[in-house]
Amino acid sequence: MFACAASALAATLPATPAHASPRFYARARLVDPAGRPLRARALPANRNFIFHYPFAGTPCFLLNLGKPTKPFAQLKTANEETYEWPGGVGAEHSIVAYSAICAHRLTYPTREISFISYRGEKSAGSRFAQVIHCCSEHSQYDPAEGAKVVAGPAPQPLAAILLEYDPENDGLYAVGTLGGELFNEFFSKYEFRLALDYGGHPKTTVEGRSIVSELTEYCKQQVKC
Ligand code: FES
Repeated sequence: MFACAASALAATLPATPAHASPRFYARARLVDPAGRPLRARALPANRNFIFHYPFAGTPCFLLNLGKPTKPFAQLKTANEETYEWPGGVGAEHSIVAYSAICAHRLTYPTREISFISYRGEKSAGSRFAQVIHCCSEHSQYDPAEGAKVVAGPAPQPLAAILLEYDPENDGLYAVGTLGGELFNEFFSKYEFRLALDYGGHPKTTVEGRSIVSELTEYCKQQVKC
């Protein structure tokens, strides 16, 4: 009798939302293509930079948005797990990083071509400025609010890359991810291609350092839409 009453009560109570916890990987200092530690204050604003984290084959965007971001954006994964994005880092709290793998169908920037990147200005295909825009099916993400989806079919924000800032040396470090990782799906979808591009080791964990390149240097052709 009591069990019946308890289960009836449980059925009427709203379910407690699941929480997405940060996932910590090896700490990697962000360095320039010559191997020199990146200085946060010298990172140009509103330009696309690419690095790989937490695996050798998983690309991420590094962006200086040129203004402080709004901390504590409340976000949700496609699995209804809630999380709170901590905001940008650096002296101005303007530096952010996200997985560059689109949360819709996993479009990502390669050395040959990029359909997804940050756009400072509006365009024919976008009524929003200052968004990360995927030209495949026009998902758009707001990098100033944890890469929440502002348009298009993506079911969740881009996974955030957790950064640490050391004011002593003006250095930036990648330490983990927050939100809906899609790395398993990504490795499975592009297994053959990634094995070719990353010498058979796309799943090697990045540790110690990660090289940051400007997207225009990293990628031959950027599709704008
Ligand atoms: S893969 Fe990016 S919008 Fe569809």
